Amino acid sequence: MKRKEEARVLSQRQISANIFDMWIETKLAEEAKAGQFIAVYPRDRSILLPRPISVCEVADDKRSLRIVYRVNGEGTMEFSHYEPGEPIQIMGMLGNGFNLKVAKGKKVLLIGGGIGIPPLVELSRELAIISSKSLIGNDIDLTTVLGYRDSDTYLRSDLEAYSRVYVATMDGSVGAPGTVLDAIEAFDLKADMIYAVGPLSMLHNIKKLALDLDIPAYVSLEEHMACGVGACLGCVVRTKEPNAHTHVNNARICLEGPVFEVREVEI
Ligand SMILES: Cc1cc2nc3c(=O)[nH]c(=O)nc-3n(C[C@H](O)[C@H](O)[C@H](O)COP(=O)(O)OP(=O)(O)OC[C@H]3O[C@@H](n4cnc5c(N)ncnc54)[C@H](O)[C@@H]3O)c2cc1C
Ligand code: FES
Repeated sequence: MKRKEEARVLSQRQISANIFDMWIETKLAEEAKAGQFIAVYPRDRSILLPRPISVCEVADDKRSLRIVYRVNGEGTMEFSHYEPGEPIQIMGMLGNGFNLKVAKGKKVLLIGGGIGIPPLVELSRELAIISSKSLIGNDIDLTTVLGYRDSDTYLRSDLEAYSRVYVATMDGSVGAPGTVLDAIEAFDLKADMIYAVGPLSMLHNIKKLALDLDIPAYVSLEEHMACGVGACLGCVVRTKEPNAHTHVNNARICLEGPVFEVREVEI
């Protein structure tokens, strides 16, 4: 059940040039899962819409959740000034999240580009839990590929706790020079399935890769949103099949997504 809540900032630190890492004490953490997001309401009333931010991590005791976000404009700039103990207005849990069942027994490639990297932390954590609890034959073989602009490789060590991590940088300073696709080729990485979060251009190329290799790929579309709850149609993506209720070839990213199997959507 999604609901609005006045939660509390537990901690906040800057982890990179303009990237912030915030833990929030909230009851919503009890139901949060990888690939879902919260909407954060700016206090500044001139900013009307809440800002969607993905769950980066859920605490083991399920009493708090972590978000990692880049300061982009006025909303995220305001959040970056919040201090521990201050209230924060949020709504959640939003979105469908990743389907984890399909990963059982598979060689899984997690791919994150830029500010698409944060949700991979909770995804890795949940996959590691499933894998450790699994019966023989259900283990998940996890590899992660991260794409950055330069040597500022935020969250890399968080992800190294769960899997082998390969890096690509656009300036060639760390790992393979170029994009995540260049790293997959350079390190000859193999997979039975893919989970990916990042810019649309990256997801477009991942769709081509998944079709070429004939493997499933689940992508999270972190594109622009308005209401965040399915009411305004401000976030639609064209789909292969018509929607069962509306009979049009559209899905709302905030409600039916943000995670889709790449073959379902036109990207
Ligand atoms: C499902 C979902 C999950 C997201 N998760 C995260 C996350 O974990 N961490 C994070 O840093 N960001 C995430 N985003 C993006 C985040 O919502 C935007 O950066 C934020 O809303 C910008 O608000 P703002 O007021 O700071 O900037 P605004 O003033 O609203 O915009 C500043 C600039 O950023 C551009 N912009 C706004 N939204 C987006 C977007 N979604 N993608 C690309 N450019 C955008 C605007 O066009 C404008 O040029 C997510 C978005 C979605 C839809
Ligand atoms: S943002 Fe309004 S319907 Fe998705």
